[in-house]
Amino acid sequence: MKTRPIRFFHHGAVVEVSNAHPTRSVLDWLREDARCTGTKEGCNEGDCGACTVVIGELPEHSMSAGSAVRGLSLRTVNACIQFLPTLDGKALFTVEDLKAMGESAQSAQSAPPATLQPVEYDKPHAVKASALHPVQQAMVECHGSQCGFCTPGFVMSLWSTYEHHKACGTRPTRQQLADDLSGNLCRCTGYRPILDAGQHMFDLPALPLDTVPVIAALKALQPESGNPPETFSYAGLNPDKRIDTFHAPRTLAALAELREHNPKAQLLAGSTDVGLWVNKLFRDLGDIIFVGDVDELKHIDERTGAHGAELYIGAGASLEAAWSALASRFPALTDVWLRFASPPIRNAGTMGGNVANGSPIGDAPPVLMSLDAQIELRRGARVRRMLLEDFYLDYMKNQLEPGEFVQALAIPLTVTSRQVRAYKISKRFDCDISALCAGFSIELDGDVVKAIRLAYGGMAATVRRAAGAEAALLGQPWSQEVVNAAKTALTNDFQPLTDMRASAAYRFQVAQNLLQRFWLETRRQNPLTAQSTSVFSVMPHQVAPQ
Ligand code: FAD
Ligand code: FES
Ligand code: FES
Repeated sequence: MKTRPIRFFHHGAVVEVSNAHPTRSVLDWLREDARCTGTKEGCNEGDCGACTVVIGELPEHSMSAGSAVRGLSLRTVNACIQFLPTLDGKALFTVEDLKAMGESAQSAQSAPPATLQPVEYDKPHAVKASALHPVQQAMVECHGSQCGFCTPGFVMSLWSTYEHHKACGTRPTRQQLADDLSGNLCRCTGYRPILDAGQHMFDLPALPLDTVPVIAALKALQPESGNPPETFSYAGLNPDKRIDTFHAPRTLAALAELREHNPKAQLLAGSTDVGLWVNKLFRDLGDIIFVGDVDELKHIDERTGAHGAELYIGAGASLEAAWSALASRFPALTDVWLRFASPPIRNAGTMGGNVANGSPIGDAPPVLMSLDAQIELRRGARVRRMLLEDFYLDYMKNQLEPGEFVQALAIPLTVTSRQVRAYKISKRFDCDISALCAGFSIELDGDVVKAIRLAYGGMAATVRRAAGAEAALLGQPWSQEVVNAAKTALTNDFQPLTDMRASAAYRFQVAQNLLQRFWLETRRQNPLTAQSTSVFSVMPHQVAPQ
């Protein structure tokens, strides 16, 4: 096996790294090796956004959902939980790049150096030639920074928004800005000035990224066409002076072969779970097989399966792309999509990883189970499928055999008359792990329940369907009386735990209440809207337009 250094585009040049351990984080490399200390470390677990950076990729290799920015796909990620070798062949943008862009724009205009003028609080002052990028300048003018610790992270999230909207000629609403910034925490500003800056940055003289040199560098970094090496391998010493190897196969066949012959190696996708095992649990991962460079694994499309039309989601597609595909077919899933972690986590993490990780409080499994999803597993050339609900055996135990991996998820699209809902209950509205997550679907024949699927996360050691409650409903009228019987049956379906997120009694109560809510929203007479059944419709989540 031939190994080589990691190569990526950073700060205007191609960088080669050969002396880092495979699990060295992008954040540590930036701050300690590259001495780019603009990017900050807060939580070191993907929660605060202080370390937000932007990854640039050629669109054909990207896992992201959004449209490309002048030939380059851009997505925010948390540098603290990304391992350095995953950057190979990509571009890394940090807050230092924005400063450099601002300075080069200023010297091109030979404008006088920027002087910060005193401004009237709350009123952006007149635009001056500036050495700052418009995103940074807007933060200054709108007082979006106080202690400043969170600022580089906010600036990078805003820059991603800026580039995407500039490329489409649109401006984000205040609500879209709030959603884009839901992974960035600030303890000082109260957020309003930052949202002001997010709007004001579009008023300043435009400074779009020159993508031409970046694309040229990325093309030069790709394997030569006609002779693609099937796997990029990088080796580095761990603290015990043992060599660990990071393998990044580029084709599905190469991944299948590598996995089959290295069943003990750690499979890695977006590292939004695995990154924490290293940062917080100090786990030694040994050799790694990274699935994130396999383009075939990122496909999302509609295809004809053995039982008709289905939505096929490759296991390597980002959470953002996967949820976007689901929500475009089932709009009631939008709320859970936007409340799943944060944009940087959804841009890095995969739905394959969420399902394979098998956490009992993962948000995708209950939703997918309610949609009757199948999971596609592969070992070598063998591909097999099973219902997702049959995949989980016990707490963090599943049907994956040694050498096998998740290839895709398939959601049947043949049932057109079903109504679907998903509800997430967590302590914080944004960027929080669920105490409970429910995915429900129902088909009615007149007033009678023809098919029902009630899947709950957070109620047992695995995500599971509520068999007793479903039996109480099937073939019965979809009425309050029958729903009450199903709520009673729910108490025999689960024995939830009391933990830091919720007590067992709370979980039971909420599980029953969510079923009631589902009935209220889907009953034939006088169904209520999601706005009227959600407590958040009367809470200030919806950011007022200004
Ligand atoms: P990784 O971390 O790379 O891997 C996770 C596990 O899956 C590993 O065991 C890995 O070996 C395995 N794996 C990955 N891909 C495959 C494959 N193709 N075949 C077989 N095994 C595979 N989760 C939620 O459900 N809801 C949330 O709201 C949420 N919020 C979060 C917020 C933060 C700040 C963080 C850090 C995490 C959050 N998570 C949340 C957890 C995490 O984002 C998800 O579980 C994510 O989907 C994991 O995907 P990944 O690609 O990052 O997996
Ligand atoms: Fe908090 Fe990375 S340091 S998200
Ligand atoms: Fe202090 Fe945001 S300005 S944390």
